[in-house]
Formats: sequence, C-alpha cells, structure tokens
Amino acid sequence: MQVKTVTTTPIEGQKPGTSGLRARTRVFMQPGYLENFVQSIFDAVGPIAGKALVLGGDGRFFNARAIQTILKMAAANGAARMVVGRDGLLSTPAASAVIRHLKTDGGLILSASHNPGGEDGDFGLKYNIPAGGPAPESITGAIHARTREITEYRILEAPDINLSAEGETRLGETVVEVIDPVAIYADLMRRLFDFDKIRGLFASGFRMRFDAMHAVTGPYATAILEGELGAPGGTVLNAVPLPDFAGGHPDPNPVYAAALMCEMFAADAPDFGAASDGDGDRNMIVGRGVYVTPSDSLAVLAANIHLAPGYAGGIAGVARSMPTSRAADRVAAHLGVPAFETPTGWKFFGTLLDAGKATICGEESAGTGSNHVREKDGLWAVLLWLNILAVTGKSVAEILGDHWARHGRDYYSRHDYEGLDKAAAEGLIEALRARLGSLPGTEVEGLTVTAADDFAYTDPVDGSTATGQGVRVIFGETARAVFRLSGTGTEGATLRVYLERFEPDPERHGEDPQRALAQVIRAADRLAGIRERLGRDAPDVRT
Ligand code: G6P
Ligand code: ZN
Repeated sequence: MQVKTVTTTPIEGQKPGTSGLRARTRVFMQPGYLENFVQSIFDAVGPIAGKALVLGGDGRFFNARAIQTILKMAAANGAARMVVGRDGLLSTPAASAVIRHLKTDGGLILSASHNPGGEDGDFGLKYNIPAGGPAPESITGAIHARTREITEYRILEAPDINLSAEGETRLGETVVEVIDPVAIYADLMRRLFDFDKIRGLFASGFRMRFDAMHAVTGPYATAILEGELGAPGGTVLNAVPLPDFAGGHPDPNPVYAAALMCEMFAADAPDFGAASDGDGDRNMIVGRGVYVTPSDSLAVLAANIHLAPGYAGGIAGVARSMPTSRAADRVAAHLGVPAFETPTGWKFFGTLLDAGKATICGEESAGTGSNHVREKDGLWAVLLWLNILAVTGKSVAEILGDHWARHGRDYYSRHDYEGLDKAAAEGLIEALRARLGSLPGTEVEGLTVTAADDFAYTDPVDGSTATGQGVRVIFGETARAVFRLSGTGTEGATLRVYLERFEPDPERHGEDPQRALAQVIRAADRLAGIRERLGRDAPDVRT
C-alpha cells in the first residue's frame, strides 16, 4: 500500500453553509471535489496524524463510495483510528453521541440532511468538533480558506474496506473500526428516558406511527421502538434506508410527510405520529388530529422535560433560534430560567450547552435537542414526547391544550418560496434591509411596526459575533414577521417568511393557524413585496 500525493487546484464554491458543504451529488462526484474538501478539513483542523475520527452518513447515494475515499485519505494523512458506522451509516445525532462517548478528535458526517438524495439529488459533508457539534464559523472559515489555496491531497492506494462487518481492520497504519451504528446511541437514550414507563404505554395498546422516510432513522427507530419498547411490528414505516429515499423528500413536515399526516387525521388515527429526516436530526410530532409545530413542541418539551429521569433535576436554560416562536421564552420565564435567542443553525447552541447555560434547544426547522449530544436529535424528541405521554397519561391534544391554557398560544407558520431566482430573492431582502430605519411607527394592514432590525448576535460565552441573520419586523407584543433566505439549498434561493401572533385567550386557541395569522401574513406580503418581486401568489410550503 502506497501513499499517493495528488496535485490539485482549488475548486470554486467549497464554502460550508448552515450545516457543512452541500452540493449536487454529481458535483460531489466530480474528480477531486470530495478529495479537495476532505484534505482542506484535515489541513485546517490541524494535522490529523495520530488522531481518531468518527465517520458515517445517512446512506444516500455516494455515501459508501465517499467513505472509502475518506478512509484512504485519513490513512494517508496518518490518522490513528477511524470509527465507522456499519454499512457507512450513522445518524447525525448518533455520530455526535459516538464522538462524545469515545472522546475522538471529532468526526466527519456525510449528509445533505433533509434534501433529496440520489444521483440527481444532493450530497453533503461536514466536520464536527470533539465536543460533538458542528464546527463553529471560525473553523468552517478556515476550511473554506484552505479550499482556496489547496495544491495537493494525499490518498492511500489500497483496496476497499468491508463496511458490512463489525470489527477492526487496518488500512496502512490506521485502525478502521466498524461499529454497530445504533448501540452507543441506544445506551444513551436508555439512560435519559423511562423505558419501563414507555414499555407500559405500548403494552396498554397505545398506537404509534414513526415514518423514517427511507432514511437513516429506520434502523434506530426499529431497534428502539419495536425492539426495545415493545411497539408492535409495523410501527416504523419506510424503515429501510435507500440511496434515493425512494425518490422522496426526507423532510419531516406536513407537506413531505403527507401520508403520515393523512393517517393521523383519519377517523381511526393512531395516538401518536412522528417522522424524522434524511440524517435523523429533525423531527415532526403529530397527535391524533393535531399537528404540533416545532416551536410549540420545544415549548411543551421544555415545560415537561423534568418528567424524564435524565432531566429530573430541571433545566438551566432554554435556547431557540431567532425565527423560532417565542413560546419557549414564556416557559423559561415561568420556570425562572434564562432564554437565549441565537441565529439559525445548531452550531450556535454549542457554546451555551458546553457552558451549562442551556439544557434544551430548538428550532422552527423541526430541530429539538439537549445537552446529551451537540446536534439536534429527532428520535430523542420522539422518545421525550413518549416519556411525557406515558407519565401524564394524557393525549397530545390534551397536553397542547393545557400548555396553551397556561402560557397562551403563539400561532405560528413558516411560508417557503422555493426555487427562486437568487438575485430576485436577495433583492427582496436587501430592499427590506434598506427600509429598516423607517419602518417603526408605520402601519401595515392594520398592524403597527414597533421595531425592525437585521438580527445580529454576540455569543454570550465566547463573544463571537454573527450579523445579517434575518430581518425581524415586530408588531408590538402580539405579532412578528421574520424574513431570511435559506442557507441549506444547493441551487437558486428559498425565501422563508416566519409568521407568528400571540393569543392569550383560551377561548380563541382552536383556530386554524393560517386564519389566525391572516393579518400578519398580509402585512408580511405587503412589506416585502413578495407578489411583485417574486411573481408568486402562494408559498410552496406552509409548515
Ligand atoms: C440545518 C441546520 C439547522 C438549521 C437549518 C436551517 O438543518 O442543521 O440548525 O435550522 O439548517 O435551514 P435553512 O434552510 O433555513 O437555512
Ligand atoms: Zn437533518
């Protein structure tokens, strides 16, 4: 086996976005594309000689090939140990758990999360730090800088490793350890939640559907829900990970998980429904006939998390991304713990979790998690819901109704306009930014703007700053509209409009969110000029 040093030149656009580098699968498969980026990571995070890294992905097209290449490059760069999930699989939260449990020097996760997969879909790669979370901007910036000056990469000429058998092999001097992708993660869940109580719930006839969307959570959900907790066979739907997610869009929202929604709103609906995304970090929660928005889910979980044994001591604080509704802040105030508002992107929670300032975090983009790992965790959220349902004996609808009665309801919806012309979308945001100073005091569709800004953040732990994180237009205590462009797409642009309105009166908690938000929606459309600038009459997705 020989180390080959390959001369290369920088490739444009290898800039990590909200969560690592994302590109079309075919782009990633171009000669040198993956290699340049991987070598840039190795160079930027310091020599990886003698280090141990975790490696795995969501099983999408090119996952297995990319893993073989990365292993050979890690060996050529002198890595001491590479820990790989069997068949190249590791969900994002499981990768985080493995990095932390084995105390490795970080890891590489292959995924484009909720984006479609396949040869014509998307692929992605990110580096996670030794604490288990996505690299902060200081590191992704250094990786990007390195991609712009790279001149060579190193790779071992060697046969492929067998990834389907657990155990250790050698690749040059590097030990490659293939592990069960589920075991370490399942152990952690067992320590956090009352598995006996949840077992009792299923034994009493409680019915659940978990849609794995042919993505990575299939093996995890099957092992834990059906294998360990006694949920009947068939509870987990679409449980086999496929390279193209069976042609689906593995994003757990009411639009892309339509079949599950349909079942949960049918006459003989199960008690509980949930879904997760491509790499297992997102979650969707549905009760019988009731959809729980991610923002409400965060608030409900924060208010009830003490019912799970791993959190019996209560929480230190709650953190949410700026566009997430303010429902979680009300819970924090009620509990007398701090609430943090961060930019979009899980990486911003890392310092708060490390410093013990926040215990639970969440985002409107269907992400919820806690200090147990440094990624959001889809199955964790599902298990916490199950733990709460088992302890309280209430239905999802009852829990939600009680929560709103106590804290008020933050009606919430996100409207996405997808596949936009990039210049037009950027123009819309720029135009809003230009008007920020003049907005306060103006009336739009019967609502008065009380504040407007472009969200900027200073990390309370390490003092790092982030600017330009989304335009916020606030209408007094009651309503808010936020505008930002997605940072996870690979082509064109997606405009996200986040809409919310607070309703304290329990008599008015049963409205359809789109109706309850109609005035805010009109005001947001008017302010941003969505129709005129984008030529769109309606959003592609409403969450
Ligand atoms: C990824 C990140 C999340 C973030 C989301 C935002 O899923 O892991 O932390 O909330 O992207 O996506 P967007 O498309 O809105 O930039
Ligand atoms: Zn994801």
